[in-house]
Amino acid sequence: MTSYLRHLPVLIIFAAAVALHVVAWRWGVRAAGARAAWARKVLVSLAAGSGAALLLTGMGLEFTHMRQAMPQQMWIFFVRGASLAWALASGWLFLALWLWRAAPSFDSRRRRFVRAAGAAAVAAPAVAGGYGAFIARTHMQAQEVEIRLADLPPDLDGLRISQLTDIHLSPFLSLKQLARAVSLANEWRPHLALVTGDLVTGRVDPLDDCLRELAKLRPSDGIFGCLGNHEGYIGAGSYCAREGYRLGIRFLRAETRYMRFGRAGLNLAGVDYQSMGGPYLSGLERLLRENRFNMLLSHNPDVFPTAVEQGYRLVVSGHTHGGQLALELAGVSFSLPRLFTPYVRGLYREKDSALYVSRGLGTVGIPVRLGADPEVTLIRLCAS
Ligand SMILES: [Fe+2]
Repeated sequence: MTSYLRHLPVLIIFAAAVALHVVAWRWGVRAAGARAAWARKVLVSLAAGSGAALLLTGMGLEFTHMRQAMPQQMWIFFVRGASLAWALASGWLFLALWLWRAAPSFDSRRRRFVRAAGAAAVAAPAVAGGYGAFIARTHMQAQEVEIRLADLPPDLDGLRISQLTDIHLSPFLSLKQLARAVSLANEWRPHLALVTGDLVTGRVDPLDDCLRELAKLRPSDGIFGCLGNHEGYIGAGSYCAREGYRLGIRFLRAETRYMRFGRAGLNLAGVDYQSMGGPYLSGLERLLRENRFNMLLSHNPDVFPTAVEQGYRLVVSGHTHGGQLALELAGVSFSLPRLFTPYVRGLYREKDSALYVSRGLGTVGIPVRLGADPEVTLIRLCAS
């Protein structure tokens, strides 16, 4: 049930957009008048019907079972992206239409002003969408993060960790962009390189290319990873783990790797995607080591309170894409993932533990990033 609940915000957006189409269609048909306007009525009906059909298709494709039942071709991702973009744009277009209708016909100055506001309402999302699709989406940043932890073993003080996550290698994130991310991570000269899931989006995406590129990470003490929801959706978990192992990437699937750095012991645990809503990490208490520094790789950051309860000092996650389409107002960030988790991006703390949520590299749904530039994460552990 909880796996369906996570679709709820997107489904509400789609349903609202379909309702706006019905209202706009009624306005359009009424405005055509009673006589000799059948051509306009047909046009209005075709436009509203096509928009609604795209939205309903997008609604259907939200469900994994529906997507898996379809032939696995690239068009599915384009249609999903287009339908979500159209759903979001519908609100603005409806506002513009409403302003157009509200323009008083008896006052030409006011009419011009209201109609100009309507035109601006139409232009704003197009400009923002263009910026997010062509500029912000590819504006990769090396994000250095210092994580201060009390009682950090002295030999872990200064440990450098790189993290790549939510790569979604696809037509919207090229191998060249991934190669650049790998190169940025290598410049950090990390001890550990982490890959925290969502290597690709769908079955048609080049998973092997992604793994081969990630194998070019050059940490001194190993490449480790956990799997994301998309590896689960496409049934590629075992393949990823096997091929990754062959290439030198160790995906931890409810497993641990114990490492020594000087006199300090680091117990690195990793889990497969933990379904949103929980229960989280159930039956996995065995992964912890007493009196050692326990660190967890979990694609889903929402596990954080449970992980702290179990004894992890550091959790490294992705999944939310930093909101992907995030609006910042008065220091508060608004985005879709904010509706289902408080952990959307950056550093969070609880008791003596920390969680870092990377914005990741790629996109899902709509190939646009706004207010959430792609990120290569470079973590340094420090004693506080
Ligand atoms: Fe993702």
